[in-house]
Amino acid sequence: MSDQPKTLRELIALGAAYLDKRQIPDTRVACELLAARLFKCGRLELYRHLDAAPEARVVDALRRGLQRVAQGEPVQYVLGQWAFRNLTLKVDRRALIPRPETEQLVDLVLRSPRVQGVVKPLVVDVGTGTGCIILSLAAELREGVFVGLDISPEAVALAQENAALTGLAERVLFAESDGCGEFDPASVDVLVSNPPYIPSHVVDGLAPHIRDHEPRLALDGGPDGLAVYRALLLDATMVLKAGGVLFLEIGADQGVALRDLLDEYGFANVEIHQDYAGRDRFATGVQSV
Ligand SMILES: C[S@@+](CC[C@H](N)C(=O)[O-])C[C@H]1O[C@@H](n2cnc3c(N)ncnc32)[C@H](O)[C@@H]1O
Repeated sequence: MSDQPKTLRELIALGAAYLDKRQIPDTRVACELLAARLFKCGRLELYRHLDAAPEARVVDALRRGLQRVAQGEPVQYVLGQWAFRNLTLKVDRRALIPRPETEQLVDLVLRSPRVQGVVKPLVVDVGTGTGCIILSLAAELREGVFVGLDISPEAVALAQENAALTGLAERVLFAESDGCGEFDPASVDVLVSNPPYIPSHVVDGLAPHIRDHEPRLALDGGPDGLAVYRALLLDATMVLKAGGVLFLEIGADQGVALRDLLDEYGFANVEIHQDYAGRDRFATGVQSV
């Protein structure tokens, strides 16, 4: 991107053309997001600045950001922050970029009569990543004890930074853990997880901006994509109270497998729920004993 743009509109068009040549997806959106960050406004408010002449420092900063995106880095990591429900979270390569479907997982938890019926529930999020799920639950549920766990110390550190940034550090505890088997038996009211669920051979074929930049630990669910679910269900049967609820995000083609697994591990009221695109995306069940 070498030309000197006269307006922000021109700068964005040049940036998009630069990315188009490098086969980057959603180039216009990426440029607008970067520009919005520099103008400290929302992407939809950018139109107010489109005819302004961008200062040299803005052109330089956008150029640097575009170079990173052109090399395949997700625009969210370049921005360094991303919105999830009502929170703005720090995002970087220590953890998965929160996806919009996961906002619906939080909705499922919040709307559950079983969750609403518990006073001060112990809520545990396994594989917390940025902390997006458990921080949102702490922010949106009035009462409770909230714990986010991750096998990755880097993710735990990022989640703790996000707790501080969102003013929730006093309400959410984060810890490094493989699964959640260390809770006392029958002590947890709500277990929620968006674990890695992509089969290993599929991870290898993912788009480079995902495969080469987001942590493999956040994506790879083992040979059939179900390895972390199996371990998690075993832990869940130990630590959930009778009547405690499990909420899982799942791959679009894993509805049947997850229903079978939840049945196999003795969960009651097993349900598979769809996302807004109509694909199987969540599995829920209730601890029966
Ligand atoms: C798909 S990411 C989800 C991150 C975040 N909850 C979200 O929804 O954006 C899965 C997370 O699970 C963590 N993880 C993988 N295996 C785990 C295990 N056995 N125990 C705990 N966390 C695990 C990864 O480090 C990663 O942060």
